[in-house]
Amino acid sequence: MKVLVVGGGGREHTLVWKLSQSPKVSELNCAPGNGGISKLATCVDIKATDIDGIVNYSKENKMDLVVVAPDDPLAAGMVDKLNEAGIRAFGPVKDAAIIEGSKAFAKNLMKKYNIPTADYNVFENCSDALRYIDECGAPIVVKADGLALGKGVIIAKAVEEAKAAVNGMMNDKLFGNAGNKVVIEEFIEGPEVSILAFTDGKTIVPMVSSQDHKRVFDNDQGPNTGGMGTFSPSPLYDEKLADYCMKEIFVPTIEAMNKEGRKFKGVLYFGLMITKDGPKVLEYNARFGDPETQVVIPRLKTDLLEIFEAIIDEKLADINIEWDDNAAVCVVAASGGYPGKYPTGLEIKGLDAAQADSSTIVFHAGTSYNDGKFYTAGGRVLGVTAVEKTMDMAINKAYAGIEKISFEGMHYRKDIGRK
Ligand code: AMP
Ligand code: GLY
Repeated sequence: MKVLVVGGGGREHTLVWKLSQSPKVSELNCAPGNGGISKLATCVDIKATDIDGIVNYSKENKMDLVVVAPDDPLAAGMVDKLNEAGIRAFGPVKDAAIIEGSKAFAKNLMKKYNIPTADYNVFENCSDALRYIDECGAPIVVKADGLALGKGVIIAKAVEEAKAAVNGMMNDKLFGNAGNKVVIEEFIEGPEVSILAFTDGKTIVPMVSSQDHKRVFDNDQGPNTGGMGTFSPSPLYDEKLADYCMKEIFVPTIEAMNKEGRKFKGVLYFGLMITKDGPKVLEYNARFGDPETQVVIPRLKTDLLEIFEAIIDEKLADINIEWDDNAAVCVVAASGGYPGKYPTGLEIKGLDAAQADSSTIVFHAGTSYNDGKFYTAGGRVLGVTAVEKTMDMAINKAYAGIEKISFEGMHYRKDIGRK
């Protein structure tokens, strides 16, 4: 089969790496891909958000399957457009991807179907939002309704901070149309667990659990990032909690989407907070998480292509999905200055040495490849992943790997997996 993966980050490198092991895949393409991906697939210079470009390329080159991985093209309806052109595509259609594309939609869905989540209100009018913040007091959480590159959530410790966030979103349009509506939410506390799940709209099969480290510095200090590292499994996510989540959150969400006429087929990501009153949904993502994918997919024993096909054909119940019992850790190497401004085009050294150990693999998030050398091309540059029998061994291997890598200004957290 000829397969095209849409996207060009660490998540896509991981999906391409796994798909490249499938005996059914005869040709792998990735748009736009990155330096690391170019070693496993043909990188095509089309932006992940260019719907017409992707549809035309897929038609002209007779792709048998297109895997749409990032949030923006899913929310914009890339899967719908591929389907209309007669091309098989993996990922939710636009009407279903709204579960990530609109936080107001997701919150209203959870309320209507009694899925546990923090209390909230949705506002389309700035003065009503400001009044509500006065009534509730702080701490309080302000969220832009739409997609905002992971920056649309403000945890406000003071009323003034919350009001400034609302003003920034609604009046100053900091996130464009994504801030036309805001969700104002009760502040809740507890550790966070990420559960990614395969679903064909009928059956839902959770993957192994993981945890993400979002802050840039050790001990969860500094600003939020797209994720500085992950580990799998989460020690918090035991069988009892998994059963509870399946009954009270995962199955009800799929059923709710069906009742709303928005059948969800693809990967649904549940961002859970384990509060003293039980698990609550912080957010849904309509896709694989990044960098969660980098620790979850290496533990998958089953052919990923077979799973994608079963989901598209709504036959997920017919296949058996198997995972190994190992632990996986991914440590992200970031550019100097990230998550603020950072330079690109810096040469990366030590990649081969880092992967000399067979349990270690370096997934590229933001790199380019030119004349036999790799260069930085993004804020998050690499995700050094190790899979081992125990978490301690995986942590040690991942750090032994990343220590061999260098580029100017490179930084990474030293406490990934030690949560
Ligand atoms: P989200 O994009 O909705 O997952 O939010 C990003 C991060 O903000 C989450 O991973 C949490 O750490 C934090 N967060 C979101 N909502 C809340 C809330 N209601 N209370 C406390 N922290 C929150
Ligand atoms: N790691 C969080 C996300 O993929 O949104």
